[in-house]
Amino acid sequence: MAIKVTHFSGLFYSGRVEGAGINTVEKIIGFLASVFMALLLLNLPLHAQGWEWPEKPENIQVLSKDITGARLGFPMRGFTRALGVRCTYCHVGEEGKPLSTYDFPSDENPNKERAREMLRMLGSINDHLNKIEPSGDQRVNMWCHTCHRGVARPITLSAQLKETYRTEGLDASLTQYSELKEKYYGKGAYQFGEGALNELGYEVLKKENPEGAVKVFKLNSKEYPESGNVWDSLADGYMQAGDKKNAKKYYRKSLKFSPNNQNAKDMLKKLGEKE
Ligand code: HEC
Ligand code: HEC
Repeated sequence: MAIKVTHFSGLFYSGRVEGAGINTVEKIIGFLASVFMALLLLNLPLHAQGWEWPEKPENIQVLSKDITGARLGFPMRGFTRALGVRCTYCHVGEEGKPLSTYDFPSDENPNKERAREMLRMLGSINDHLNKIEPSGDQRVNMWCHTCHRGVARPITLSAQLKETYRTEGLDASLTQYSELKEKYYGKGAYQFGEGALNELGYEVLKKENPEGAVKVFKLNSKEYPESGNVWDSLADGYMQAGDKKNAKKYYRKSLKFSPNNQNAKDMLKKLGEKE
């Protein structure tokens, strides 16, 4: 399969995918930043480092074999923006050293092969997309950014927090929450709704650590103090920790924000409270 950069129109980069198993010629679009901005922001510094895109790249396996160095710049800069990384994420080279010291044709960095497989994946995704009639005025553009949204590993916030909890423990997971929030809040990479910490809390409860779960739910109640659901979770945590007094207190608080919360009503009844 080959992905061919065909034309640049306005703010977008367009390419075509063709080859092995793919009959239709497809269009891949997606670099959401202007080509002009890219040239201004990225091309100049590269030149300033005394480095130029190779006239004839040596080791092209997925992109179109006849792609020129000048054109190669567009997907490469697109990759860095889509994943929020720099060239060294996929290439052999040392950050801070001039690009002329980098070995771009080398396949030693495993992320380069991962990126190739992603290009192949995009080819087959586009094959499938071409089989459906788009409901909007044109087909949704599918490119690295559509999934990655500025991070190298596109994973939901709750899945990331649970992974860190499993591998490094609860404190590391909570530290990560605040670091990610600091770095990415308001950007597309992660959804900072009440769901992420809530899911983490129940994962911690499942692992029979109610004190840990209370810690997570407490943090969530600071983040979302007007959510009946979040107070209900905190009450569940206290309930499992055997702290009935606090469980009652927070089921009541949950009902203040969500008067129809049946779980809170049932639990309060169970705890001996009349309606
Ligand atoms: C997400 C991974 C990724 C990032 C980030 C990335 N590249 Fe690449 N690069 C690749 C892949 C994959 C290829 C090979 C494409 C193929 O086989 O079709 C490649 C090929 C190249 C080549 C051609 C080398 C040759 O002669 O065969 C150059 C030059 C290059 N990249 C420069 C850059 C520069 C400069 C940056 C930073 C602005 C960059 N790349 C960022 C993945 C990446
Ligand atoms: C359909 C969604 C999707 C698209 C489109 C996509 N990726 Fe990915 N990518 C993923 C997922 C999911 C992972 C994580 C896989 C895992 O480790 O379980 C990933 C992982 C990667 C990784 C490895 C990151 C790491 O640190 O482990 C690289 C590199 C990468 N993608 C590059 C690209 C590039 C370049 C493009 C565009 C050509 C692209 N991806 C398009 C979903 C996507």
